[in-house]
Amino acid sequence: MSLLSCQDWTPQQIQHLFLTADNIHQQSHTHIRDKILINVFFEPSTRTSLSFECAMKRLGGQVITFQKDSSSLKKGESLEDTIRTLSQYGDLMVLRHPQLEQVSLVSSLIDIPIINGGNGHGEHPTQALLDLYTMYKHFGTNFQTKTILFIGDLKHSRTIHSLMLLIHKYPKMNIYLLAYPGLEADEQTLQRISSIHSQSKNSITIQFNNINYKLFDVIYITRLQKERLDKEQQTYCNFMMTNQIANKMKEDAIIMHPLPRNEEIAPDVDKNHRCHYFKQVKYGILIRMALISNIFK
Ligand code: NCD
Repeated sequence: MSLLSCQDWTPQQIQHLFLTADNIHQQSHTHIRDKILINVFFEPSTRTSLSFECAMKRLGGQVITFQKDSSSLKKGESLEDTIRTLSQYGDLMVLRHPQLEQVSLVSSLIDIPIINGGNGHGEHPTQALLDLYTMYKHFGTNFQTKTILFIGDLKHSRTIHSLMLLIHKYPKMNIYLLAYPGLEADEQTLQRISSIHSQSKNSITIQFNNINYKLFDVIYITRLQKERLDKEQQTYCNFMMTNQIANKMKEDAIIMHPLPRNEEIAPDVDKNHRCHYFKQVKYGILIRMALISNIFK
């Protein structure tokens, strides 16, 4: 079973995945011992590629990593032929590609399951699942009633796009948005939030000079996706979370970020008890172990 989008997940499947992740170290994974995961990344990655590698190895499986710069792509081979070839070498592929359509296009060419490790500015479903799992670990099943503020490049952040699709499965949650200049969410997104979560459309967008930090249970921040901006598009990151701002939030609220961070979270926030971005990294292993173990069931 491939994982390309968060669209198709049901709350029941999400709950099952979370319970599998909770108990992953108590389960036997001997059936994964002879399986091979192939990591294929056409964009830089630290966490997604290495946490898949770590998860597969912790389950007793094997990993091979495609190196695009020393591959036959340099001899003019097509992406399609490369992917068809790689699919003969393993049992599960994790693919990241800068172009929106490529991951789903090549998934139809191969017979092994494929996990979307990030398709351009589209989606990043495994990050969203580990993000929601982080909320579940902190709030318990009550996460389903919490209020989240997304701050960042709302246009290009694939982690926000995927997480929002998951949050839409829980109509009692509320979503608020604060975009860097020129990188606002589109009309369709506002419409969807308004109708699914019964929020008035005008209240969804928050202004920088008027943030009531006490309103939110989760503040989820992303960096400016510089690599996805047109050359002529001049914009900047006009928000920085500091320890002083963090202390204005509710006592049990949390600050999340998919990482890597640039200037949008000051290092002094790391010691605040609301800082959860390194916990997200830790939970990423458990969620990816659970996903792999479900795929090979
Ligand atoms: C994110 C990504 O690649 O979309 N990183 C990640 O996988 N944790 C976020 C980003 O690059 O800004």
